[in-house]
Amino acid sequence: MRTDTPVTIYRKDYTPPAFLVDTVDMGFDLDARKTLVATQFTVRRNPAARTTALVLHGRECPLVWIEVNGKRLKEGRDFKIEGEDLTIAEMPDTATVRVVTKLAPAKNSSLMGLYESRGNFFTQCEAEGFRRITWFPDRPDVMAKYTVMLRADRKAHPVLLSNGNLIESGKLPGGRHYAKWEDPFPKPSYLFALVAGKLAVLEDSIKTASGKKKLLQVYVEKQDLKRAQWAMDSLKASIRWDEQRFGLELDLERFMIVAVSDFNMGAMENKGLNIFNTSAVLAHKDTQTDDDFARVEAVVGHEYFHNWTGNRVTCRDWFQLTLKEGLTVFRDQEFSADMAAQAVLAAKGDARAAASARAVLRIGNVMDLRASQFVEDAGPMAHPIRPDSFQDIANFYTATVYEKGSEVIRMQHTLLGEEKFLKGMDLYFARHDGQAVTCDDFTAAMQDASGVDLTQFRRWYSQAGTPVVEAGGEYDAAAHTYTLTLKQHCAKVGVETLPGAPEKLPFHIPFAVGLIGPDGHDMPLQLSGSTTADTHTHATTLVLDFREAEQRFTFVNVPHAPLPSLLRGFSAPVTLSWDASDEQLAFQVAHDSDAFNRAEAMQRLGMRRLLKLTQRAAAGQPLEADAVLPELFAKILADDSLDAAFKTELLMLPPEVMIGEQMDELDATAIRAARVFLIKHIASALKKDLARTYRQLAGGKARAYSPDPVSAGRRALTNMVLAYWLDSGDADAVKAALAQYKQADNMTARLGALAALVNIVPDAAEKPLADFYKRYEDNALVIDKWFRLQASARSTRSRDVLKLARHKAFTLKNPNRMRALVFGFAMSNPAGFHAADGSGYAFWADTIEKLDRINPEIAARMARLMDRWRKLAPALRVQAEAALKRVAQLKGLSKPTAEVIGKSLSI
Ligand code: ARG
Ligand code: ZN
Repeated sequence: MRTDTPVTIYRKDYTPPAFLVDTVDMGFDLDARKTLVATQFTVRRNPAARTTALVLHGRECPLVWIEVNGKRLKEGRDFKIEGEDLTIAEMPDTATVRVVTKLAPAKNSSLMGLYESRGNFFTQCEAEGFRRITWFPDRPDVMAKYTVMLRADRKAHPVLLSNGNLIESGKLPGGRHYAKWEDPFPKPSYLFALVAGKLAVLEDSIKTASGKKKLLQVYVEKQDLKRAQWAMDSLKASIRWDEQRFGLELDLERFMIVAVSDFNMGAMENKGLNIFNTSAVLAHKDTQTDDDFARVEAVVGHEYFHNWTGNRVTCRDWFQLTLKEGLTVFRDQEFSADMAAQAVLAAKGDARAAASARAVLRIGNVMDLRASQFVEDAGPMAHPIRPDSFQDIANFYTATVYEKGSEVIRMQHTLLGEEKFLKGMDLYFARHDGQAVTCDDFTAAMQDASGVDLTQFRRWYSQAGTPVVEAGGEYDAAAHTYTLTLKQHCAKVGVETLPGAPEKLPFHIPFAVGLIGPDGHDMPLQLSGSTTADTHTHATTLVLDFREAEQRFTFVNVPHAPLPSLLRGFSAPVTLSWDASDEQLAFQVAHDSDAFNRAEAMQRLGMRRLLKLTQRAAAGQPLEADAVLPELFAKILADDSLDAAFKTELLMLPPEVMIGEQMDELDATAIRAARVFLIKHIASALKKDLARTYRQLAGGKARAYSPDPVSAGRRALTNMVLAYWLDSGDADAVKAALAQYKQADNMTARLGALAALVNIVPDAAEKPLADFYKRYEDNALVIDKWFRLQASARSTRSRDVLKLARHKAFTLKNPNRMRALVFGFAMSNPAGFHAADGSGYAFWADTIEKLDRINPEIAARMARLMDRWRKLAPALRVQAEAALKRVAQLKGLSKPTAEVIGKSLSI
């Protein structure tokens, strides 16, 4: 896998394949140590080709033999292999190619291609895993129909699955059996999948909108069967939602979901056979939290929605990845929001509560975007949502491609409105069903169907970085006008900083605004130059088309000086810079009709204080804080008109990573000191309120567990209030936390109490922590939580993490376990990871060295934990650089890890 000079691939170099493939027939003789794969496929010359040779791809894929039209080929004479390319120069216009390869799934620890996990066989082919199974044109613009024959031991592997429909199965001599599957839809190789093993199945069926009955199956290990129902419920909800909101139906006779413990990502949308990380599919109140339930619903939705956005219409090349991922994330976010709003409406019968439930999801999505994507977009790996180059596509399954990609779709939805957006989707499918296309094809469909000009908007696909929007307002009391001045700027980032990169141009930003009157109510809006007829007369939120570097918008008929509510609902992925006083922000918290902006105003109030405190902490000055936040917190705690979930958002101080991004120099230790100080400052001022609120929340009648957003919101608030109460230093809080831990009848309550204790009062946590391990020893997903909550605790340092890494239950081979400990430490505990002695970086380098030999894709993800090293204070920067250089010099570093480390050191 080692490449001495990293090869960069460019989007502009795309060439269509010389040959198209119509059908693929595969036969697998499955065995852990020696699996033979016989593949036969028919090719014909591509009329659109600009090259003539047939190029097949392979990676760590031992070739037994290859034939064209029945003639055995000889390396050197008939074909050559260079890197991952097998080139056959002399080819007839049509041909049948046969390839036999020999694999050892048990030895494959990369979890790409065909591998073994807990005695079962699984595949993962996206992006370039199919080339680890056989030599084939492994590129997404080659779509073919697959027939797959699986043969395996009947006892060890009773369940045999592949894409599409089961057409035949039966016994074979020697205790073996077979199953033959046929997928009626042409697909790219990255959507191929097989599963073989001992699995239990939960079955159901659904009647689609057009009245056809479809079989639904969730395959899991037997002991997990009781944890499969929520995934099934989520699948059925997803199918309904896609019919109702997008008019898209399930196109297969059966739809299967399979759980696997060893998996690099969340899940994979293989046609008709979605394969899921157990962490994204299993859910039961005793072992999973409310957040886990929400994630399962979102990921089941995400993979199901890919069936149209990704599978029916796929990507021409991997630079277009956001075409399917950004769009599908947008769809899963909307699904979750609609589901939450629906549930709250049913429970409370009140539209305001439903809107607040939606806002909670939006706040969460934006929080994630800022904590991961904004950070990525300011570092060495920054790239546009449609990158222009990469060394290894495995590194581009990023927050930018996914989460910012979703924001870019959301902005189009905002600019077009729901109705025209749906027309655009219809046109996209009408034009491109069954094709492999580009992001430009998508925006063209949106533009053509709506008549909205997206020419400038397309820059969101080609320019990286987070634009900064500066806003200033001026009220003219005599003329009754309010003028909003917006300026945008976006610095070059990542690859854009290399010589020769073009200048950046202004973005088309849909900028949603409202004006709040002195009475706290929204004012009707009328832009100067427009008549009341062409704006909606009653509209109190307007989406401004902000296109220039600097632009003014004047509102007329404004009777009083307003308070502007800017970027409502986070209408664009930008950083808003706006000078508001504490009083204005507090007013906004109390009155903004846009729930997102209410929470945003709270974040600003908190951030302002945290930045000041951090500076003082860094300078060794004593810390002090005013009464603004304690007073606001008290009001919010007592406000019965607020839903619990929304209240929780209001009471959450900005996370450490976001504080770091606001500073020129990253000082994780000072940030930690500042944040803990502010939490304790608020908590001790509110000790009594917190005790009372906690008792109210926890004391209510015990109800049967349900993951719905109203109940989940209540539990989230309970846990948050408990944590603040613990931070107040009240001994009663410790008793309450221990009681909650013991008496909990669900994982959210149990883990909430335990995590708060471990974090805040570690001495009191020892017993419950040991109890937790014993109780859940046999459940890997729960033990992951045990590792994570310790790794991310305030007092944890790298020596503690090293100790946990030596625990008998720890392994680098399982990505969930590895992430729980290593990412839990580096990402959720920056003060521990960036400790002054550099021990965090030494741990990082040592771990990458081991991990890269096991699983390059995951090692490369881990390498990204150092993305922001240039922002560190000089003493730490030196140590970080030394650790990076040490890894860079390792022999045999994998391609994805080498790309990340290389960019970290050179950009
Ligand atoms: N398409 C999958 C999803 O977003 C992600 C698969 C990426 N796999 C990988 N090994 N990089 O649902
Ligand atoms: Zn996806």
